[in-house]
Amino acid sequence: MRAYNNEFRYGLFLAPMSGITDSPMRILCRGYGAELAFTEMISATGLVRSTKNTMKLLNRPEGDKPLIAQIFTSEPQDAGLSAKILQDNGFDGIDINMGCPVKKVVSKGAGAALMRDQKRAVEIVEAVLSRVTIPVSVKLRAGWDSSSITAVSLAKRCAHAGVNAIIIHPRTRSEMFGSPPRWELISSIKHEVDIPVIASGNIRSVKEVEHVKSLGADAYMIGRASVGRPWIFRELRGGPAAGPIERKELLLRHLDMLCSYYGRQRGILRMRKFLSAYVKGLPRASAFRQDANRINEPGQLESLIERFDWGDGEV
Ligand SMILES: Cc1cc2nc3c(=O)[nH]c(=O)nc-3n(C[C@H](O)[C@H](O)[C@H](O)COP(=O)(O)O)c2cc1C
Repeated sequence: MRAYNNEFRYGLFLAPMSGITDSPMRILCRGYGAELAFTEMISATGLVRSTKNTMKLLNRPEGDKPLIAQIFTSEPQDAGLSAKILQDNGFDGIDINMGCPVKKVVSKGAGAALMRDQKRAVEIVEAVLSRVTIPVSVKLRAGWDSSSITAVSLAKRCAHAGVNAIIIHPRTRSEMFGSPPRWELISSIKHEVDIPVIASGNIRSVKEVEHVKSLGADAYMIGRASVGRPWIFRELRGGPAAGPIERKELLLRHLDMLCSYYGRQRGILRMRKFLSAYVKGLPRASAFRQDANRINEPGQLESLIERFDWGDGEV
């Protein structure tokens, strides 16, 4: 399939996940076959004001490509200005977040709040499109709540405005991350637009890929299933899961990458987000988690990982 000016053989993409999909995570997933990655969501306003924390989200090494920058905002002007900054910084495309359900974001009219303010959503899209020449997509939810399913009409309006792809996580804002995805929305959107439609939500196996493909999805985003399991991309290409030695080495490598990227202190704190996922399902996981979360020194964590009983790696 073709999207974001690139050709993709499998259409397997790493989903944007705030606090998770930093450059080290993206590089690990690319190594296992993620063909495209997205940044964590970036505040357009923070970018326009060049705040320190926002600017840090732009750091990445050369191999971290192709990479789409995702912005969130309720302000068309900030959207346009930030998109231009991202284009000048060498990103391969811009995605506009219309799905974040978090109170801090929706209370300001951004993220999923745009699902019920289509006029504002389209103004944001138009402002971005007027400022950049790189591809632009929108990441939608199903709608705000079950009485307001707006994904199809908003997808249509965004496509008409000129976006290059629609990403759909077919749950409403109220459904957060738990309820079954409303997959039928993929077919409905596909019916209305002639640009790629990318599916996100609960895609963890070849069976789920095949299912959303049968509904018309052109590409597939993997989110939570990749946390502590970056080899999911290899599995979705028909390859094996990681065995115990590979898992251990991967965890050590992840720790090393985070410490190089953030520095030892922040690196080890960031690692805590992943530790339980790496050992999930293994017999001594809970004791490992408790011990690991008390450690503040990378060398000590490394030896704990080395000593851990990785069993036969079946999880
Ligand atoms: C911790 C976490 C952070 C997320 N952050 C973002 C984000 O920054 N931008 C975004 O569009 N979606 C974000 N999402 C939503 C995911 O991209 C994805 O659409 C959702 O998790 C469903 O897919 P999954 O079942 O494969 O995880 C986040 C999800 C999680 C769990």
